[in-house]
Amino acid sequence: MILNHTIEALTERRSIRSFRTEQISEEELADILYAAKYAPSAMGLQARHFTVIQNKNTISDIVSAAEKNGAKFLPGHTPFYNAPTIIVLSAPDTAKYGREDCACAIMNIMLASHAYGLGSCYICSALNGLRDSEIIKSLKLPDKYTPFGCVALGYPKENAPAPKERRNDDITYIR
Ligand SMILES: Cc1cc2nc3c(=O)[nH]c(=O)nc-3n(C[C@H](O)[C@H](O)[C@H](O)COP(=O)(O)O)c2cc1C
Repeated sequence: MILNHTIEALTERRSIRSFRTEQISEEELADILYAAKYAPSAMGLQARHFTVIQNKNTISDIVSAAEKNGAKFLPGHTPFYNAPTIIVLSAPDTAKYGREDCACAIMNIMLASHAYGLGSCYICSALNGLRDSEIIKSLKLPDKYTPFGCVALGYPKENAPAPKERRNDDITYIR
């Protein structure tokens, strides 16, 4: 296999669930968002919106809203792992592939974060908090946009865990 920086980033990125308290730099944030905007999107419509949350109260309001709407977190579990930055991806209700567009943008965010030595974790467990009508208002989402996921970002507190062994029963060749 040819090893280059792209392949290394794809295989070495891991979900990070423990973050230092200091905020990521403005430059890192800007570069990560820049890279995220180059994610593929259905028909090139870029039908997704990025909401950067760096406010602890807003993050804890989202967790409370998730619980109010039925999410059950284990005692002591912090769904956003105390990450100092959360980027929410939302898409217009009219977009046919909004969910997919958001997922692609999140992947770019995670890979760009990895390139900067930052930790990241895709978070869907608090999605019903993000979709709470009060939270949607507080996030100032564009009209008729729905959140499809978010990513927690920060300087990692711990080394990345070793990856799980990859499955070897999940490829079919039709030749
Ligand atoms: C759609 C999606 C939703 C996820 N939601 C969560 C989540 O809510 N909380 C969490 O800790 N990890 C979440 N993850 C991260 C996965 O658990 C993680 O990617 C998986 O265990 C593989 O580990 P790796 O990312 O280190 O390769 C999510 C991943 C995806 C793709």
